[in-house]
Amino acid sequence: MSAAWQIWRDRRGRLSWLRVVALALLLAPLAKALIDWQAIAHGARPINDLIHRTGFWALVFLGVTLAVTPLRRIGRFGALVDVRRMIGVGCFCYIAAHLALYIADQGFDLGKVAYEITHRVYLIIGGIAWLGLAALAVTSTDGMARRLGPLRWRRLHQAVYAIALLALVHYFQQTKADVTVPVFAAGLFGWLIAYRLLAWWQDTTELSALGLLGLTIVVAALTFAGEAIGIAIAYNVSPMRVLGVAFNVDAGLRPGWQVLGAGLAVVLLDVVRARWNGRRSRNRAVAAE
Ligand code: HEM
Repeated sequence: MSAAWQIWRDRRGRLSWLRVVALALLLAPLAKALIDWQAIAHGARPINDLIHRTGFWALVFLGVTLAVTPLRRIGRFGALVDVRRMIGVGCFCYIAAHLALYIADQGFDLGKVAYEITHRVYLIIGGIAWLGLAALAVTSTDGMARRLGPLRWRRLHQAVYAIALLALVHYFQQTKADVTVPVFAAGLFGWLIAYRLLAWWQDTTELSALGLLGLTIVVAALTFAGEAIGIAIAYNVSPMRVLGVAFNVDAGLRPGWQVLGAGLAVVLLDVVRARWNGRRSRNRAVAAE
């Protein structure tokens, strides 16, 4: 097998455990679909089930791609950058399958597919996001990065934030009743984008633990507010009543709490890694004395 296809090896041709884990994560939804195959095949709409699965996992991997930068900085784990491209391309593979399944669901009638994608708002939005992801996947190779030059390549790849926003809108628009997961996803994407905005505003690549805590609290509060306002508009009820339910733990853990939990886990990671690094450099200094 050509070396270029051996994606579990690093640039020097050595087996990379990080790449193996990333590859396993990327293949896990496929494996789950194969395990669930009987249930999917006997379900009401097997192809629609697969459309939902591929769309959902494409969004998850898009989020993971965006999480690489904060995680490698906060976790002091620079090697993570090595798998970002692999996860991004994996995201595109799922989204390519998502569109292929949609075409199959329309009986391979390409005229109908083109009509639907240009006339239904949620499909127009999904279609634009799809084209954006395709542009990022095509330009993700070393050769394309060289041809475009670092500045133009970076500018083009910054489109990922707009693509994520469009993908979330597409997700919300086709969600019928329970918005818990889409709101949680929106909160997490909001955190990832707010992290970059705050770092840019403070002109730093390393936010303090206090900065991360503040960011988490603000994004979690916005998630609570966003969910309450959205449900209030959709069902014509008072947003305060919806907020009241959010604070009633018997009604389940609302997305605002989930975003708060995820953000606090990141703050904890920052604190632990800072202490660990501090102890290691103290030990090194003692050993050198
Ligand atoms: C031309 C492009 C696209 C088409 C034709 C398309 C089509 C669809 C369709 C038909 C559904 C199911 C709707 C229903 O059953 O009512 C769906 C759901 C979904 N799509 Fe797309 N989509 C496109 C692009 C995208 C992109 C770029 C993303 C994200 C990266 C995405 C993420 C999702 C998600 C997350 C769902 C819902 C999954 C769930 O229910 O868990 N789609 N899409």
